[in-house]
Amino acid sequence: MSAPAAAWVEDPFADAVRAGRGPLWLRGEDGARIFLDVERWCAPAAGGDQGLLLRCVRLGAPVVDLGCGPGRLVAALLARGVPALGVDVTGAAVDRTRHLGGPALCRSVFDRLPAEGRWGGALLADGNVGIGGDPGLLLRRAAELLAPAGVLLVEVEPQEVDERLTVRVEGADGRLGPAFAWARCGAGAVTRRAAAAGLVEAERWSSHGRRFLALRKGSPAARA
Ligand SMILES: C[S@@+](CC[C@H](N)C(=O)[O-])C[C@H]1O[C@@H](n2cnc3c(N)ncnc32)[C@H](O)[C@@H]1O
Repeated sequence: MSAPAAAWVEDPFADAVRAGRGPLWLRGEDGARIFLDVERWCAPAAGGDQGLLLRCVRLGAPVVDLGCGPGRLVAALLARGVPALGVDVTGAAVDRTRHLGGPALCRSVFDRLPAEGRWGGALLADGNVGIGGDPGLLLRRAAELLAPAGVLLVEVEPQEVDERLTVRVEGADGRLGPAFAWARCGAGAVTRRAAAAGLVEAERWSSHGRRFLALRKGSPAARA
């Protein structure tokens, strides 16, 4: 099940993306806040992004960025000669991606997408494994998009957490968007669900305080 249409779209996230600045948080029902680094997402790819980009270049195949936000990774992939498409439900994010010269679709990752089953790579960066609030379902959806030897690159939490939450986006003025389902997963929580999605761990790495997994589609053809 995808997030309700209004979540992200008609809330402080869209305003922050338009302005290119935060601060912004996800506010949980228990009052705890998770910082959303919208300024980094609106800036050119840097730091820990480089490892993601390098692995995409090595794939030598088109990459779909699931929940691309303002599109820094799509733009950086294109600049490195990797065909890429961004997908995001937030119109303001899609507009920014296109402004950077990147193709992007204003659509949910759970909607019908181009080239399903043919993407060489897919990205779930910046905590996007939380999209929809059901990481198992999202991993299965990502696997469905990949070609038989495709690779899903996932950014995980630095800590070993496994949480399903109801959150709202909160802006600097305290304004809250609508509630929606979200999840936070460390490497263990993702790899535990990967097999059921037909994905096997190929690599894990850390960079600039961020942690990542590469999951390869585990079909017999891909392992051969
Ligand atoms: C945590 S932010 C990550 C931002 C992004 N990776 C970037 O570079 O800016 C989550 C992003 O996922 C998008 N999103 C949330 N639910 C989505 C869905 N079902 N399908 C596509 N995008 C979604 C939001 O609009 C937002 O841009």
